[in-house]
Amino acid sequence: MKKISVRTNCPYDVIIERGSLKKAGKLISGVIGSKKTAVITDDTVNSLYADTLVKSLEENGFDVSVFVFPHGEQSKNLTVLGNIYDFLCEKRITRSDFIIALGGGVVGDITGFAAASFMRGIDFVQIPTTLLAQVDSSVGGKTAVDIAGGKNLVGAFKQPALVICDSDTLRTLPESEISCGMAEVVKYGMIRDKKLFEILENHDISTIDEVMDDIVYTCIDIKRDVVENDECEKGERKILNFGHTLGHAIEGWHNYTDYTHGMGVSAGMCMITQRLCSPEITERLKKCVELYNLPTSTEAPMSELLPYCSTDKKCESGSISFIVCNEIGRAEIKKVTVTEFEKLMEG
Ligand SMILES: NC(=O)c1ccc[n+]([C@@H]2O[C@H](COP(=O)([O-])OP(=O)(O)OC[C@H]3O[C@@H](n4cnc5c(N)ncnc54)[C@H](O)[C@@H]3O)[C@@H](O)[C@H]2O)c1
Repeated sequence: MKKISVRTNCPYDVIIERGSLKKAGKLISGVIGSKKTAVITDDTVNSLYADTLVKSLEENGFDVSVFVFPHGEQSKNLTVLGNIYDFLCEKRITRSDFIIALGGGVVGDITGFAAASFMRGIDFVQIPTTLLAQVDSSVGGKTAVDIAGGKNLVGAFKQPALVICDSDTLRTLPESEISCGMAEVVKYGMIRDKKLFEILENHDISTIDEVMDDIVYTCIDIKRDVVENDECEKGERKILNFGHTLGHAIEGWHNYTDYTHGMGVSAGMCMITQRLCSPEITERLKKCVELYNLPTSTEAPMSELLPYCSTDKKCESGSISFIVCNEIGRAEIKKVTVTEFEKLMEG
């Protein structure tokens, strides 16, 4: 078992161990006093993993109920959030009880926001079951839902009480979802860890499972370090957004349908690097993402992507922050006016 302790305002541990889902009841008993909980999950994950989790919780004396919603980004909205609140009321979950997010980033984000807001805040545990959720969204405390005005526009910072990563659960993920998570893994290599990047260059989508536990550990440890220094994203934490400004624009251009978050981030990282960094770094990054079946660009014209960039959360009073990696393993935050950003991107 590997454990990473995240020392944010409310500190918590991340457990990384194959097979840990079966031990979740015991692990949670060690950190949470209440014996009453509700598991929030989507229909796909429910059919694969909810029984194992519920069994482990019940064996450890927990009173458990399960709320299931349809899988996919389209469920990360205020209607489903309202249904979760109603369910928690119906099951008489109180302020001293807790909820569990079992699933990918969609489940984690909406459950986290429910935990941040229900009764002005209750504890929650993250059990991420996608690669993206294990290496990124389950750690760091960002929670949100989407509204008509944009993705993740309503949310809160709320750290979980515990995160349990069982990489055995990744075995049932479609390859396209592994690719999606690998975009974030490549991002960590680019912004902070040359060695990680080299490991990625020496594997591909068919062999990466051999080193998956180490990769998950390394990525979470990088995220821990960044988040501990800047919990509420006032400065350094912005480096985690490498590739995301253009990535979100590309996802938006595709109406969040046929283009995954990982594909957007991958194309976004390559496009910004190609415009601002050396050909050598651009070439290495492109080759690396291609090993994981990820795109290096998009058919969306830059002129149509830029309006999405200027309405992004990373855009503040006429200026925009974006991340550049002039060296593999080192990221810089750049802040320019929206007009300057447009010139750089169109140039
Ligand atoms: N909070 C953060 O810091 C943060 C960071 C990055 C992304 N996000 C958010 O995360 C979301 C994307 O997360 P995601 O990529 O995990 O998507 P997701 O939660 O939609 O999961 C992808 C698909 O995989 C299925 N699935 C999940 N686990 C499975 C398993 N073990 N086996 C088989 N199928 C499984 C799900 O049912 C879903 O259909 C977005 O909403 C994004 O905004 C949040």
